[in-house]
Amino acid sequence: MGRLHGKVALVTGAGRGIARASALAMAKEGARVIATSRTFERLKDLEKEGIEIHQLDVSDGEAIKTLAGKINKIDILFNCAGHVHRSNILECDEDSWDYSMNVNVKGIYRMCKAFIPKMIESGNGGSIINMSSICSSIKAIPDRFVYGTTKAAIIGMTKSIATDYISHNIRCNNLCPGTVLTDTVRSYIQTQPDPEKSMKEFIGRQKMGRLGQPEEIAHMVVYLASDESAFVTGQEFIIDGGLCV
Ligand SMILES: NC(=O)c1ccc[n+]([C@@H]2O[C@H](COP(=O)([O-])OP(=O)(O)OC[C@H]3O[C@@H](n4cnc5c(N)ncnc54)[C@H](O)[C@@H]3O)[C@@H](O)[C@H]2O)c1
Repeated sequence: MGRLHGKVALVTGAGRGIARASALAMAKEGARVIATSRTFERLKDLEKEGIEIHQLDVSDGEAIKTLAGKINKIDILFNCAGHVHRSNILECDEDSWDYSMNVNVKGIYRMCKAFIPKMIESGNGGSIINMSSICSSIKAIPDRFVYGTTKAAIIGMTKSIATDYISHNIRCNNLCPGTVLTDTVRSYIQTQPDPEKSMKEFIGRQKMGRLGQPEEIAHMVVYLASDESAFVTGQEFIIDGGLCV
């Protein structure tokens, strides 16, 4: 039996990257996984792994309520969907600010508000895992003004939820990765004037001398989702190849 046998896990942003690797890792550990993505096409091959798929944009409050109406039981909520805006404060216009806040912060607020009542109703509690970043209240990264602001807000939101629902056995923790080599990071590097130099700069930040792999974050997701972490709540889990050391 897997470490997540009997549990139901809901994942946002699961079309690619860390969320996709985590959906697969949780399914491998025996969870019934419900993977959601803004782009439905990206989810289709997950069905072959026995994963249930739904189109979901976390900025669409009505769609979240509709999905919540279709799901009876949920034990694990992994809020991974996120948007990276690259700029300093002077270059960040109000639309960019609002977009990032709406997806990264309000998206998690909407998901938690829709699914916490189900964890309470079940009487079994649950585990919420929110995707923050080392680029947050932990550390500043140049030209990530609104991104870092949203990821810091997620840390505050996580602690608040962890405190308010501890008596319902609902745990809530943060993931704070360093740079993980996902398609988004790969594409960004390719758009730089000198991609090789840009890759070297990314790698140079991580004292281990390499970027992380999505699967290395998924291991922590499985741990936080499982009963192995039953005594853990309200914390930041830094997985960064030594970037913050
Ligand atoms: N890759 C990294 O180096 C890194 C480091 C720290 C934190 N993170 C965070 O991890 C998460 C995943 O990033 P990633 O690099 O794996 O891949 P990514 O950037 O491709 O992941 C973001 C996912 O969120 C989805 N998404 C964006 N807006 C959405 C919306 N409105 N509704 C639903 N889904 C939406 C995207 O479609 C994508 O699948 C993000 O929150 C990111 O900020 C990534």
